[in-house]
Amino acid sequence: MAVRLGDEAPNFDAETTIGPINFHEWLGDSWGVLFSHPADFTPVCTTELGAVATIDGEFKKRGVKVIALSVDSVDDHQGWIADINETQKLHYGVELAAQVGFPLIADPQGEVAQLYDMIHPNALDNMTVRAVFIIGPDKKVKLTLTYPASTGRNFDEILRVIDSLQLTANYSVATPANWQDGEDCIVVPALSDEEAAEKFPKGFKAIKPYLRVTPQPNK
Ligand code: BEZ
Repeated sequence: MAVRLGDEAPNFDAETTIGPINFHEWLGDSWGVLFSHPADFTPVCTTELGAVATIDGEFKKRGVKVIALSVDSVDDHQGWIADINETQKLHYGVELAAQVGFPLIADPQGEVAQLYDMIHPNALDNMTVRAVFIIGPDKKVKLTLTYPASTGRNFDEILRVIDSLQLTANYSVATPANWQDGEDCIVVPALSDEEAAEKFPKGFKAIKPYLRVTPQPNK
């Protein structure tokens, strides 16, 4: 069954590189990012995990726990992490202070992959596609994303979505196309002009009655 936005993120027990976990217990009250990759010791995946390790501090700053998954074993994961730490330390031109510090789930039977519908047999035989799930502190799925094996993901975009989700969770705003932290936001249609005037002390501008913008409320 596909996991859709607003669904509770399916819970599971699994072996990982930090030992056995129960997913919901491991998440606690944090936001979470669960991302899958096709297989260990593959080139695009190696760069992806290196990229995530490089911005680990950015996830921590936002209160987000990150966990990766593939259908390989913990032993394979540990050997591969050594390769990632060796080869990816200059990712983004920055020497990695902390190397891969987030856990990798071992899912040799594909149980978690089935639970999250990460195996798309017409795209990749017996491997997980590049799926991403952002999960809120309420354990609800806030974003799903699926990339093909040949395209490495843009993890800066995942951070951008987290910034947007955390903003919209706390204020009655949405974020426009290509929004970046600090830029104007959109007043949600559910608010009347009177309510918006009350809620946004910096004011708002109505470009059209349905298109109203306001400075980012938490800046
Ligand atoms: C890769 O990570 O490079 C990869 C994995 C599976 C199929 C194709 C590429």
